Amino acid sequence: MKIIILNVIVITFFMAACSPKNVTKMVDSSKPDPFIEQLISKMTLDEKLGQMTLYTTDWESTGPTIRGGYQDDIKTGRCGALFNSHTVDFTTRLQKIAVEETRLKIPLLFGYDVIHGYKTMFPIPMGEAASWDLQAIERSAYIMSKEAAASGLHWTFAPMVDISREPRWGRVMEGAGEDTYLGSRIAEARVRGIQGDGFGKSDRLLACVKHFAAYGAPIAGRDYNSVEISERVFRETYLPTYEAAIKAGAKTVMTSFNDYDGVPATGSKYLLTEILRNEWGFDGFVVTDYTSINEMVNHGVAKDQTDAGIMAVNAGVDMDMQSAAFQEKIKIGITDGRIKMEKIDASVRSILRLKKELGLFENPYKFSDKVRESNTIMTKEHLDASKDMAKKSVVLLKNTGVLPLAKKPMKIFVTGPLADDKNNLIGAWSASGEGRHCVSLYEGLRQHPASGNYTFEHVKGCEIEGTDKSQFNIVLEKARASDIIIVAIGEHKDLSGEAASKTMIRIPGVQEDLLKALKATGKPIITIIMNGRPLILNEVEMNSDAILEAWWLGTQAGTALADIVYGDYNPSGKLPMSFPRHEGQIPIYYNHKNTGRPLNPTDKYTTKYIDAPNTPLYSFGYGLSYTTFTYSTPMTNKSSFSDADQVTISVNVSNTGNFDGEEVVQLYIRDLVASVTRPVKELKAFKKLMIKKGETKKVEFVLSKNDFEFYDQKW
Ligand code: NOJ
Repeated sequence: MKIIILNVIVITFFMAACSPKNVTKMVDSSKPDPFIEQLISKMTLDEKLGQMTLYTTDWESTGPTIRGGYQDDIKTGRCGALFNSHTVDFTTRLQKIAVEETRLKIPLLFGYDVIHGYKTMFPIPMGEAASWDLQAIERSAYIMSKEAAASGLHWTFAPMVDISREPRWGRVMEGAGEDTYLGSRIAEARVRGIQGDGFGKSDRLLACVKHFAAYGAPIAGRDYNSVEISERVFRETYLPTYEAAIKAGAKTVMTSFNDYDGVPATGSKYLLTEILRNEWGFDGFVVTDYTSINEMVNHGVAKDQTDAGIMAVNAGVDMDMQSAAFQEKIKIGITDGRIKMEKIDASVRSILRLKKELGLFENPYKFSDKVRESNTIMTKEHLDASKDMAKKSVVLLKNTGVLPLAKKPMKIFVTGPLADDKNNLIGAWSASGEGRHCVSLYEGLRQHPASGNYTFEHVKGCEIEGTDKSQFNIVLEKARASDIIIVAIGEHKDLSGEAASKTMIRIPGVQEDLLKALKATGKPIITIIMNGRPLILNEVEMNSDAILEAWWLGTQAGTALADIVYGDYNPSGKLPMSFPRHEGQIPIYYNHKNTGRPLNPTDKYTTKYIDAPNTPLYSFGYGLSYTTFTYSTPMTNKSSFSDADQVTISVNVSNTGNFDGEEVVQLYIRDLVASVTRPVKELKAFKKLMIKKGETKKVEFVLSKNDFEFYDQKW
């Protein structure tokens, strides 16, 4: 397939534009580095395979620990990188073994899943994506990296850039949602935040783009399942975010567990060599996901671990996470010629180069400084940034006018299992984060300066899961005696994340029953949802006067939500993923095709369900504000364009309500007549801006040829 450009377009606004592509400076990897070459020339095969081996420590693990004894492996030079190893004390102890007790004194590389915060927790990535605020996202990625780098770490397994149209898949919490354009810009922002403009700074980490590729498209939303998508969808929807992250300078890539077109990603030469290195020019190193080499035996493409290891190396894997196949099994492949020694040397070279660029050969303890560790973690600046990000991540889904709260004396009843919860606020993939540092919603509401207007009552009401309704009577008594009810319901942090796929994406337990019972009191209800994935919110919609989608907001959740509830901050988030009405609609996403029989409610034989609407309850890009915005008709600078032209599109956006507010101006295109079927809507730019009440701002976007490109027919 080749890329072609559309020529008949419709441009629509929904509400914002790309940030400058600030590419990380790269060292010229095409030139041999004499230091590295000399080192490689001294290495035994075992030592080389050791550099290509990554093990977890026994501190924690996110999968089966099939191997202990990693300290002996370090000593013998048979393990060059460790993960789940952090803090200055721990990393110093391990690094000492590598640089004092091994023959070649090659320093270890320490990795960890620092996904949305190290100690200061930020909203989960899906929440941050809802901010559509690239600068704020870059700043959180920077702060999490700064804290982690002060605690002995060199490398984070982030950003996860898997586009997903599958809310059943628990890992959507870790991504940027369903849209490739938004996902790509966020991928770049995260890489910039993690790596900065070059390596070796003690406040930055090495990024790892994951999971390559299409891990977000498991059949039926079941984690680790196979992927079956066309090459067009693969290239247009799923691949661009990885490419964007790599072009932004990410130097490591993690393979995914799934197969694509019949080949497990970890053994796919097409993915790891053809696309990654040959098409995109990637010159860093590829690490597998956890034991995914061994899993190629289960996939049924390798007869044993040796076979799988050989396949992985030849496909383009440089580092084996946790399979022990490189360290223990693949030597035979080198002896019998199935693996070329140059291939091994090339992998070792890329790994050693990055260790060198990080400055570890100069000072192996560069990231292990006790004073910096204690001065850096959870500073006021970091907590403030977390609060700011949390506010920006919240999406107002419904408001009959009850929010923000009137500033007059009122009795507020706060209930729901998440109303005074701290532990779940850090969300899944919370690295070193601790719930005890979080501000709960109830705490936030009472600590806020505006709280003086109100009196508060709190009863938990029920658990997140389970059937116990024994507190409902007391809840109703308190509710009836109040002027307004704030209820916080949703998921606990293990209900989304890895290995947390679900067939029913409902609010669990008796939480909806609690809401319905509260509704019967006739009091106004503000519902705050805390969760990791799109949920079915029909009942919530019917039984609430206002709904705030608050994800898992991190350390400052309560203070951020209080600002929103009391009106100090006007919500500006927009959904990065559609919220279905029913699981039967999945996969449901905004940029679907028109089909030959587009929906016509009065014609039976058009594409629709007979028991539910086609539309989601809340679509991608949706989110309300305390104010209202109106748009003028968008204009282009000319009416026809050549390939070399740029298209300038402008629109006037007016704040016609009573609050100052930020709007996310979103630019979509549609190709009405193309050589292949195209989506009914495609996001191509967005811009988030503050518009004061009564003010009008002109918003301009410039699109060029590549914004209109797509793949043509193969034959
Ligand atoms: C498995 C997960 O899929 C991956 O994202 C993570 O980085 C590794 N485990 C290491 O924890």
